[in-house]
Amino acid sequence: MKLTVIGCGYLGATHAACMAELGHDVLGMDSDRDKVQLLSSGRAPFFEPGLDDLLAQHTASGRLRFTASYAEAAQFGELHFIGVGTPQQAGGSSYDLSHLFSAVRHLATHLRRPAVVAVKSTVPVGTAPRAAEILREFAPAGEQIQVAWNPEFLRESCAIEDTLRPDRLVLGFDSEQSWGEAVLRQCFAEIIAAGTPTIVTDWATAELAKASANSFLATKISFINAVAEVCESAGADVHQLAEILGHDVRIGRSGMRPGLGFGGGCLPKDLRGFMARAGELGVDQAFAFLREVDAINQRRRERVVTLAREQLGGDLAGRRITVWGAAFKPDTDDIRDSPALAVAQRLHELGATVTVTDPKALDSARKVRPELDYVDDPVAAVEGADLLLHLTEWPEFGRVDPEQLARRVAGATVIDGRGTLDVDAWRSAGWAVRVLGRA
Ligand code: UGA
Repeated sequence: MKLTVIGCGYLGATHAACMAELGHDVLGMDSDRDKVQLLSSGRAPFFEPGLDDLLAQHTASGRLRFTASYAEAAQFGELHFIGVGTPQQAGGSSYDLSHLFSAVRHLATHLRRPAVVAVKSTVPVGTAPRAAEILREFAPAGEQIQVAWNPEFLRESCAIEDTLRPDRLVLGFDSEQSWGEAVLRQCFAEIIAAGTPTIVTDWATAELAKASANSFLATKISFINAVAEVCESAGADVHQLAEILGHDVRIGRSGMRPGLGFGGGCLPKDLRGFMARAGELGVDQAFAFLREVDAINQRRRERVVTLAREQLGGDLAGRRITVWGAAFKPDTDDIRDSPALAVAQRLHELGATVTVTDPKALDSARKVRPELDYVDDPVAAVEGADLLLHLTEWPEFGRVDPEQLARRVAGATVIDGRGTLDVDAWRSAGWAVRVLGRA
């Protein structure tokens, strides 16, 4: 099939590469010409494991190309995926849909023959009819353009696996007899044939699938982190507790790792966007508890700051603190709403000299937080530090020898915000270890 992917960020670039991997002829479109140039040379503008290889392979084979032209994209095929960003509104809690509507409108003006426009971007429920209205108004092919809602559930750091082998496919249409369904089933034929549950539904249910899933995932994380607060006061161990709870198949272990909480460009934004939309629909009571989910998540960050102050006797002025981690989670260079970086920034505001290290996210971090110090190597980063904070659980950090490290610091105290360090090994090497969620 010939298909396009409009918007080549984390979602779109991965989707384009994976569709080429499935054997389709793919044209990725992004209005950022630098991004188009980089992608055309087979490289991603961000770090995602395996993506550069896939891009290099399929741009070389000619099955994957990129353009900055809406006209070229519109003429290329009969299926257009839209994966542009829908960030949180500046100064608000709803979604900023301007990129989405602008992309739909620009594409529409060039659509002269029947086509399916399948939107993957995360949106508030009720967006699909507005997108369809724009297409009806601006597309020369008018009524012959079908709108499909196809939410994307990929996680950064395993985006390729999640795209090629998703847990489920959701296809939303506005009528039961939709030829758009046949087009999408053909596109995903290999994934469907592998037994992937495929749910065909209406627009609103498809839109809500994504917001509900992310809000549930956030709730699960905040639940275990609320339990962590109790554990810290009651003298219990939240990590063992999470394991005990997780053996109950109704609860499960995945997505319930206690620690510094969730960040990134999705969970925090979708939680707030879901609450805002429920409010607009007059059912804000339904999600009153999501406000707590958000608050618990923020409190984890404050807790680490409090622990750091306690360890250093209260006053942080002139104290040296090293933070391991800038990315919002391991295996990505994404620093959007990163808990690690938020804590680093707060400690800096309180007067500490903060040095941050991260295997992949230092360049991105430097751009948004130039006031912090950055060092590439996790061992060199602790030189002369009074305190070490382990805030993003990169496997690289777990492999550092705590004995070698202890010789470089001014004070051998570590706060493990993720609970993944080998506490016995660190204590044997002379470190005082404090784990978030343990007394
Ligand atoms: C999330 C969802 O998991 C995806 O299904 C969804 O498609 C995506 O948002 C999106 O909306 O595009 P992502 O943000 O990439 O994916 O990452 P997650 O693996 O869900 O982690 C989110 C945050 O929660 C990270 O900061 C992570 O450290 C934290 N987390 C995750 C925990 O604190 N504990 C856990 O058990 C799991």
